[in-house]
Amino acid sequence: MKPATIVIIDFGSQFVQLIARRVRENRVHSIIVSPSITLQEIRDHNAVGIIFSGGPASVYADDAPKCAPEIMDMGLPVLGICYGMQLACDLLGSDVGAGNSREYGRTQVEIVAEDALLNHVPTQATVWMSHGDIVKTLSDDFVALAKTDTCPYAAMRHKSRPMYGVQFHPEVFHTPCGNQIIRNFLYDICHCTGDWQVDHVADDAIKTIREKVGETDRVICGLSGGVDSSVVAALIHEAIGDRLICIYVDNGLMRNRETDLVEATFKQHFNMNLRCVDASESFLTKLKGVTDPQEKRKIIGHEFIEVFKAEAEKIDGARFLAQGTLYPDVIESGHSASGATANIKLHHNVGGLPKELGFELVEPLRDLFKDEVRRVGEHLGLPEEIVWRHPFPGPGLAVRIMGDITPERLSILRDADDVILEEIRSAGWYNIIAQAFGVLLPISTVGVMGDDRSYAGQHVIAVRFVESADFMTADWVRVDYEVLGRISTRIINEVEGVNRVVYDISSKPPSTIEWE
Ligand code: XMP
Repeated sequence: MKPATIVIIDFGSQFVQLIARRVRENRVHSIIVSPSITLQEIRDHNAVGIIFSGGPASVYADDAPKCAPEIMDMGLPVLGICYGMQLACDLLGSDVGAGNSREYGRTQVEIVAEDALLNHVPTQATVWMSHGDIVKTLSDDFVALAKTDTCPYAAMRHKSRPMYGVQFHPEVFHTPCGNQIIRNFLYDICHCTGDWQVDHVADDAIKTIREKVGETDRVICGLSGGVDSSVVAALIHEAIGDRLICIYVDNGLMRNRETDLVEATFKQHFNMNLRCVDASESFLTKLKGVTDPQEKRKIIGHEFIEVFKAEAEKIDGARFLAQGTLYPDVIESGHSASGATANIKLHHNVGGLPKELGFELVEPLRDLFKDEVRRVGEHLGLPEEIVWRHPFPGPGLAVRIMGDITPERLSILRDADDVILEEIRSAGWYNIIAQAFGVLLPISTVGVMGDDRSYAGQHVIAVRFVESADFMTADWVRVDYEVLGRISTRIINEVEGVNRVVYDISSKPPSTIEWE
């Protein structure tokens, strides 16, 4: 039996994932679907309510995205947000057109009628708006619930159908009463019980894996040591034990002690069937003299597939391959009504394995957001160091060593990176920062060695700390000077061959997070 679900129809809103998360944070399962969804598909999802998202179009434009109008007749509660409200009103005979002025950012709304949707919301409330169109005349079938100076119908409900609308965005952080409104919709209008929680997610995933894999087949999992593949491995191990075989490829481009951590966690603690392949020599040989970043990525991606394939072929009876695909990847790879947005992770994902390997896929995280994956990881007993770790790129330190990759340069960057991570952990910054790392620059700068100025063999390390919600945009972290000072002193004193440390203060865009 599928959990009671809120179906969110995506009309191209930049906030659609946020709506899904807000619903889930209130312990109700949600999924995002395209406007082409059929009534039967909605029923098959065990829908208890529907949310129409916002979107950039005008409902009266020829190419405006629309869903089947019969959805309004299903008897399910509908909450329209922004464009979603205008569309629902349009479908039910109200008039939508351009407002006298566009309304962006924080606005005050005044509640003009009491309603379950607005329970516990102050009469004067701050909300976040982003629209040009408005509902101009509301048909007699509706009741206005709120207004602003420029928008006469900022919230409304239908008199005889369970249809509600808000012109503002309750899902964004800048609408302080937004979560209350979403809760009211879920609990008072859709009568959800709020029993969607992470223990159930893990239990359901384990059950589904058992059903899919059956009693005898084996599953191969490429373990990188990152959160996603670690949680995938822990879930599948819980489901089928020793019939899971994990392959960890040491490409020689990892941080210090990475292989030890993976072995200690998965082999010793979880007692998993783990094969560690030390392929560092072949990776480093192929990368010799290569300085172009995309060329590095290509070589590493190709070599990874070769090594993985050779190891997988040694495993008898393996029919399935596990992958750590997350819900945002699923949405962004084509389920979004707004068309696929550029997905940086997929685009970069050199750890991806081609279909020609001939395995069936097991993707137990397909329905989950990253924070839910972390909670599942905690629930399964993965160590904090794994559950809360920063993302690390597939090509590893290769894209953080600008220019030629040599064992000496790798060693310098690894030692510098150790200092950086140690210092931010001990100063309490690790969980505030989204990604922290060092970059070895391809230049030498002057230093004073004894009484002489010296250029020879003296490297520069750039330190990069970013904060980011989705890694599509990022800002540099205003970290304490004290922390930067300690990092600089320690790197220069402890890492031989480095005489200068700089801090990267660029945001993305226009810079990227990585330097290559
Ligand atoms: P950029 O540098 O594009 O990075 O702002 C965005 C996020 O992607 C990671 N990244 C990669 N991940 N293979 C990966 O698996 C790659 O080639 C790659 N390049 C960048 C980066 O660490 C950040 O989290």
